[in-house]
Amino acid sequence: MMRPKTPLTGTKRRNVEKLTQRFRGIFFFLFLASGIINILALTGSFYMLQIYDRALTSGSVPTLLGLSALAIGLYLFQGFFDVIRSQVLVRVGARLDAKIAPMAHQVAIDMPRFGFSTAEALERGRDVDTVRGFLGSQGPLAFFDLPWMPLYVVFVYMLHPYLGALTFGGAFVLSILTIVTELMTRRWAAATHKSGIDRNAIAESNTRNAEVLKAMGFADRAVKRFNRANQEHLALQTRTNDISGTFGAVSRVLRMILQSAVLGLGAWLTIIGELSAGAIIAASVASARALAPVDLAVGNWKSFVAARTAFARLKETVVALAGAEPLMGLPAPKKSLKVEKLTVAAPGSGRILLSDVSFEIAAGQALGIIGSSGGGKTTLARALTGIWPPLRGSVRLDDAELTQWADSIIGQHIGYLPQDVALLDASVEENISRLEQQSDARAIVEAAQTTGVHEMIVRLPEGYRTALGPQGASLSAGQRQRIALARALYRNPFVVVMDEPNSNLDGEGESALTEAIHAIKARQGIAIVIAHRPSALTAVDLIAVVQNGKMIAFGPKHEILKPAAVGDANGRSPVTARMTSRVSE
Ligand SMILES: Nc1ncnc2c1ncn2[C@@H]1O[C@H](COP(=O)(O)OP(=O)(O)OP(=O)(O)O)[C@@H](O)[C@H]1O
Ligand SMILES: [Mg+2]
Repeated sequence: MMRPKTPLTGTKRRNVEKLTQRFRGIFFFLFLASGIINILALTGSFYMLQIYDRALTSGSVPTLLGLSALAIGLYLFQGFFDVIRSQVLVRVGARLDAKIAPMAHQVAIDMPRFGFSTAEALERGRDVDTVRGFLGSQGPLAFFDLPWMPLYVVFVYMLHPYLGALTFGGAFVLSILTIVTELMTRRWAAATHKSGIDRNAIAESNTRNAEVLKAMGFADRAVKRFNRANQEHLALQTRTNDISGTFGAVSRVLRMILQSAVLGLGAWLTIIGELSAGAIIAASVASARALAPVDLAVGNWKSFVAARTAFARLKETVVALAGAEPLMGLPAPKKSLKVEKLTVAAPGSGRILLSDVSFEIAAGQALGIIGSSGGGKTTLARALTGIWPPLRGSVRLDDAELTQWADSIIGQHIGYLPQDVALLDASVEENISRLEQQSDARAIVEAAQTTGVHEMIVRLPEGYRTALGPQGASLSAGQRQRIALARALYRNPFVVVMDEPNSNLDGEGESALTEAIHAIKARQGIAIVIAHRPSALTAVDLIAVVQNGKMIAFGPKHEILKPAAVGDANGRSPVTARMTSRVSE
């Protein structure tokens, strides 16, 4: 299946640059702090040198004491900078998190609309954790220390060129090893990440279908399916871990060998009289220190790669949101809904689901949309509410395209009852008021009364404050649908789109629905009802027939729903005729 690389198109790089710029100053500071730490870390080597070559040969205790006091002072300084450096890094992580997490979550909410799985969408949240976790770990220190490695090499070189060359050679080999680790893990890391998402997607779909799995007893097969995905993920993970683990061990061993080699070479140079005893130890300590960051880098390579790919994905996220320029305020729509040559494609595959639909509804009218299953009714509803952007053509409220409004503004003028009702894991009140912070109790009750659900709500243990639990699980399907309908009607939006609003309603619920549609018309709003059952169409004035991705009829109800023969007389397809006659029965 061809799928857009990201839902995030038509965007700008500027915001990413802003984001990284914000941290550039801090990183420069960290780089300098690392320089100071590394210079101070030479203390040990200098101390050895002075002890052996000065204090011991002269036999002066005051010299020894003076040198020791100086060394302790320098060590403390180094420790101080070390503490500052790691604290700054942790805070950089936290600040980055605070900046990115809300944006990442916003994109995560959007992703399912664009054909991404929920598991994949939720991964964005985990990306934020990965980056923050890495910044708070030892890993980044390696990268700040690495640039200072030449300092030690020069120091050792000044003790003796041979020792310098050996240290340089060691650093070179270890660096090559790091690069090889990078190249080898890169491919596997991506595959591991993907298999993790696949596994989580299965886990998520299994939990969502828990009741079905239990009732028809195929939970064990679902578990097996999960296990297969899990095995695959584990195999890939083992492979990546093996690579980085092996290279980590090899680099450690190499470093130990090198350290001993420096000692051995130093001893030989001393024997032939080219080096002092103190210089042997000093060189050994300095070369060890020079190679430590390489070791640390190889050891932390896996988390570095994870953090880097996570950050790359997050950057995409930030880029996506940068595209959303603040839009001009427009007056609330009052007059009409116009659909012009609307063509809608599936976001995932790009397959055209609905083509060339045009119609117009004026304020105070209600439209019923009918047609056989899979014809494109829900697709039309998604386009009318701005969930899916039009591929071609437009949806206009008072002549302004939906995209000219900011989501939060236009959303106030739209009420939407989806076909698959899902409520938020929140209270009844929060669900109806669309999570408004300053919700209007009167408006909430009014919406609930319009859909005839008020009495049921006040009977709940905590009335409007009752928490609904995940997916509103504590309610019956009909109750959920009515609360969702109340949410759609909250604060009287201009356009109310209801997708099969009566699929779970009893007779009483249906008459409340008809009342609600009358009320929308009376307050000069627009009601759009998708229905299979004609009882939902009592209050509508217009009917659209949507079939096979096309709108094959549109007009006043009494014309469209006339007996079968008329359809043919009007040159409509026999399907329409059959369809419409079924509805009017
Ligand atoms: N998220 C989606 N991604 C890709 N294709 C989709 C998606 N949702 C629906 N479709 C496809 O679009 C077509 C129309 O579906 P739609 O949901 O609009 O039908 P409908 O008229 O609402 O049917 P029903 O009466 O069963 O609700 C179908 O062929 C379906 O396979
Ligand atoms: Mg549908």
